[in-house]
Amino acid sequence: MDRMQGKVAIITGGARGMGAATARAFTAEGAIVIVADLLEAEGRELVRQLGGTATFRKLDVAREDEWQALVVETLSLHGRIDALVNNAGLVHFADVMSFETEAFDRLFSVNVKGAFLGTKHVGKAMAEAGRGSIVNIASIAGLQGGNGISLYSSTKWALRGLTKSAAMELGPYGVRVNAVLPGGVDTVMGNPEGLPGDTKNQYYKMFRYSASGNRKKWPAPRCFFVRMNPPTSAVQNYQSMAA
Ligand SMILES: NC(=O)c1ccc[n+]([C@@H]2O[C@H](COP(=O)([O-])OP(=O)(O)OC[C@H]3O[C@@H](n4cnc5c(N)ncnc54)[C@H](O)[C@@H]3O)[C@@H](O)[C@H]2O)c1
Repeated sequence: MDRMQGKVAIITGGARGMGAATARAFTAEGAIVIVADLLEAEGRELVRQLGGTATFRKLDVAREDEWQALVVETLSLHGRIDALVNNAGLVHFADVMSFETEAFDRLFSVNVKGAFLGTKHVGKAMAEAGRGSIVNIASIAGLQGGNGISLYSSTKWALRGLTKSAAMELGPYGVRVNAVLPGGVDTVMGNPEGLPGDTKNQYYKMFRYSASGNRKKWPAPRCFFVRMNPPTSAVQNYQSMAA
C-alpha cells in the first residue's frame, strides 16, 4: 500500500468521477494528492474525506496562467511534482452535421489544450528534476469513431498524439508520458441524469442520441464494442519506443 509514499501528484478534474477515484487510490498508496478542478465544493469535500495531506486547488486547465501558478505553488509547498494525471474532460453528444462551433472550442480547450498546458508546465518542472510521470486519460473513443461522438472522439485521438510525441520528447529527461484509454465508466459525464439500470451505460445513451430520428441509417451502436482489433495502447507504444 505504499507504492506512492511521499510522491506528490496533481490530478486534474479530480473532484469527482474517475479523477476522484484516482485521488482515493493514490492517497491509499501514500501519495500527497492535489485535487485540481473547477468544482470547488466537491473538491473540498473529497479532500476532507481523504484527510491527511491531500489538498484542493481550483484550476481551469484551459488557463495557462493558472497552470503556471499551480506549478510554482506546488514546488514551493512540496519541493517536487512526481505525477500529473491529465484527467479533466468534457463530452458533447452531437453528430458532425449539427455540432455547435462553441462546443468544438470548449472540448478542445479542456480535453486537448488543458493536457498540453499541463504537460508543458509540469513536464518542464519534472524534466528539471530528472524524473516524473504524466498520465493522460484518453478514451476508447480515441481508438475508434462512433455515432454522435465525432467531436469527443477527435479530442481523444489528439490526446493520444500528444502522449506519443511528449513521451519521446520528455523521455530523455527521465519523464514518462503514457495514456489510459478507458471504456464506458458510470460517471456524471456519461450519465448526467443519473439514469438507473441499463440506461446507466453511456454508450446506450449515445445510442439513444444517435438513433433518434435516424434509426435506419445508424442501426448499430454496437460498433463501440465490436469490430475493433485489440488496440495497441499508447502505453504499449511508449514501451516499444523506449525499448
Ligand atoms: N466516463 C467514461 O465513460 C469515460 C470513458 C473514457 C474516458 N473518460 C475520460 O475520463 C476523464 C474523467 O471523466 P469522468 O467520467 O470522471 O467525468 P466527470 O464529468 O465525472 O469528471 C470530469 C471532471 O473534469 C472537471 N473539469 C471539466 N472541465 C474542467 C476544466 N476546465 N478545468 C478543470 N477541471 C475541469 C469536471 O469539473 C469534473 O470534475 C475524462 O477525461 C473523460 O473524457 C471517461
